[in-house]
Amino acid sequence: MKEFHINTEIFFGENALDRLSMLPYDKVLIISDPFVVSSGMISLLTARLDKAHIDYSLFTDVVPDPPVEKVISGVATVTRLKPPCIICVGGGSAIDTAKAVKKFTKQFDDKYDPRLIAIPTTSGTGSEVTRFAVITNPAEGRKYPLVDEDLLPDEAILDEVLVKSVPASVTADTGMDVMTHAIEAYVSTDNNEFSGALAEKAVEISGQFLIRSFSSCDDTHARRKMHIASCLAGLAFNSASLGLNHGMAHQLGARFHIPHGRANAILLPYIIEYNSGITLAGRSQREYPSCVRKYCNLARILGVSNMNEVTTIRALISYLHFMNAEMGIPSKVSEACPKLTEAEYMNALGDMASAALVDGCTPTNPRTPSKEDIIEIYKKIW
Ligand SMILES: NC(=O)c1ccc[n+]([C@@H]2O[C@H](COP(=O)([O-])OP(=O)(O)OC[C@H]3O[C@@H](n4cnc5c(N)ncnc54)[C@H](O)[C@@H]3O)[C@@H](O)[C@H]2O)c1
Ligand SMILES: [Fe+2]
Repeated sequence: MKEFHINTEIFFGENALDRLSMLPYDKVLIISDPFVVSSGMISLLTARLDKAHIDYSLFTDVVPDPPVEKVISGVATVTRLKPPCIICVGGGSAIDTAKAVKKFTKQFDDKYDPRLIAIPTTSGTGSEVTRFAVITNPAEGRKYPLVDEDLLPDEAILDEVLVKSVPASVTADTGMDVMTHAIEAYVSTDNNEFSGALAEKAVEISGQFLIRSFSSCDDTHARRKMHIASCLAGLAFNSASLGLNHGMAHQLGARFHIPHGRANAILLPYIIEYNSGITLAGRSQREYPSCVRKYCNLARILGVSNMNEVTTIRALISYLHFMNAEMGIPSKVSEACPKLTEAEYMNALGDMASAALVDGCTPTNPRTPSKEDIIEIYKKIW
């Protein structure tokens, strides 16, 4: 038996933030990215809470790739305040921090069950609708995707006014995270018709609007579309999970601090080559795995389908390289981390491959990788 459900209520479109004036609480805790406070963006939330006479406290101690220690300090704050509602606002790092804080606080007090409202300020992770939270252990140089129904936000608010300020490079990275979520969910071994429909729409919107959204922060229409695509892709992988691309990207983020979406973007064309068995230059074989048909569907949606399956996959891989290049995303790790030496990188590959092999995202990859396969892909992206 399979199961599909969407537990998160979604408020979206112009003035979606007005939802905050309707909350039935007298106090809330806001967990936010420090940028949201320093930029003054926080007033878009607090003005609505003030209007509804809702008191608020702030926890702004969030950093990218949230480490365990920030989650622990968040748990201490929530345990002290016990707010009936937690609002998290920021990129995936802020939302993941709040999700983990809520889950661990509940473990200490099973009667405490606050409502969690997620408000993304980047269009990328889809974390506002997923039961995933990615936490980093800096001592080990590893990222751990936690997967638990308790991590699911109760509400998500998608208001494009919050993504207007996202700089071009972050728009590019996070947008390719959306594309990777949709593609990985679509070919995952746990994919189903519901997740497939959501992933197809996310790919269609990303193909049409990501480069536009990257090109101008004033293109509100494109930014609204990408904000919705991010959520659609989140819903898709919440059901179907992800694959090796994320399993390997987590190690690049934890070790070398390559932004999450950028690590995915660098890997994506190589993962499609690996999963399909079709490379840009290699000779054709007689038979290809079943994910090839699925990749071809996505190529058609992106408008790059070609004469046959082999040329279509090659066109898809080339198109993804083109998208990266068009948005200034480095094509190799050596470009993304200019201070990293080749020897340092090569020395780390064994441990990184072992960690990618047991990463929570890897088991649903359409092709089961060996440690040697993973090392080979890591070498290709150097
Ligand atoms: N939970 C999930 O389902 C899931 C899925 C994919 C990735 N992740 C995780 O999410 C994290 C990445 O999240 P992200 O890509 O959103 O990046 P992020 O949250 O780390 O933010 C990236 C940068 O953008 C800034 N920023 C955020 N909103 C902004 C705005 N509106 N204007 C200007 N700057 C802004 C932040 O301050 C930060 O410096 C990683 O830890 C990744 O592993 C989680
Ligand atoms: Fe991701």
